[in-house]
Amino acid sequence: MQKTINERIEELRAQFQQGIDAAPNLEALEKLRVKFLGKKGEVTTLMRGMGKLPADERPLFGKLLNEFKGFAEKMLDNQKKQLKEKDASQRWEKERLDITLPGKPFHLGRKHPLTVITEEIEEIFSYMGFQIAEGPEVESDYYNFEALNMSKEHPARDMQDSFYINPEVLLRTHTSPMQVRTMEAMAPGLPVRIICPGKVFRRDDDVTHSPMFHQVEGLVVDRGVSLADLKGILMLFTKEMFGEGRELRFRPSFFPFTEPSAEVDISCIICGGSGCRTCGDTGWLEILGSGMVHPRVLEVSGYDSEEVTGYAFGIGIERIAMLKYGIDDIRLFYYNDLRMLQQY
Ligand code: PHE
Repeated sequence: MQKTINERIEELRAQFQQGIDAAPNLEALEKLRVKFLGKKGEVTTLMRGMGKLPADERPLFGKLLNEFKGFAEKMLDNQKKQLKEKDASQRWEKERLDITLPGKPFHLGRKHPLTVITEEIEEIFSYMGFQIAEGPEVESDYYNFEALNMSKEHPARDMQDSFYINPEVLLRTHTSPMQVRTMEAMAPGLPVRIICPGKVFRRDDDVTHSPMFHQVEGLVVDRGVSLADLKGILMLFTKEMFGEGRELRFRPSFFPFTEPSAEVDISCIICGGSGCRTCGDTGWLEILGSGMVHPRVLEVSGYDSEEVTGYAFGIGIERIAMLKYGIDDIRLFYYNDLRMLQQY
């Protein structure tokens, strides 16, 4: 039985509708368009076959086919729009930002308290005309001990106190080797007026001692340099560093490379001198060793000890920082705990 024209077009419409409803995306929609409206699609095929129809049926068939074509184009357009919107809103859901969320805090780095103190010390001495020099941390026995008038039998050379790399080479136990290195490099030039900040190493580890710590060496060599000059410069330094009202105490001491020698104490910053845990109830805190450069050290470094004199000092940087910031455990400087470091 031959289908009526209306039935055939209805079938086409139903097929198309099914296709549209099932099309999940734009790609499927395009395939559907090609299938029905493309050059070799259903509509074209039906148009071509129109010649076989009886002449009186052709106009109606043509009209209905054209109507279907218009309908299909409109449906495709609509569906395309809808799919696009759906796509965009899905993407929006996925990429959605909650702009009311508080931002992540941004941590700015800062200088380590020991760096701050070192720079402060450098600034004070630069202002007083000192130059800054740096030397090796891995040092020869000669510069660390021998040239500093420390005989082979000196207790400081004991394997217990020093980190030896081989019998002739060690990690420097103080910055004093820079006295000799500087004078050697400058002799017989005058005046010598330098400070040398840096790391030093000793076999020590407790609340007030660390196997690595920092010193600033100071050295002045010239004609007529006296103990009074040393005292004056150190008084000026402590005044700049800790402010007015701190008392200094020069205590006779011994170092093989200075004569006379003195250790310098400062009145305890924590208790103000009345005695506390930090100063061991003495009211005083030791911050440096110093003295007049020993004539033998001047001589081995190329200076005539009959003609020139000099003074030297070695400041413990951690000591200064502990006093300035009221820190009672030296190891806190090396834990790199941000809760501690962020306070300075
Ligand atoms: N080098 C000595 C120490 O580490 C300190 C010092 C330096 C003493 C210069 C006198 C002169 O203890």
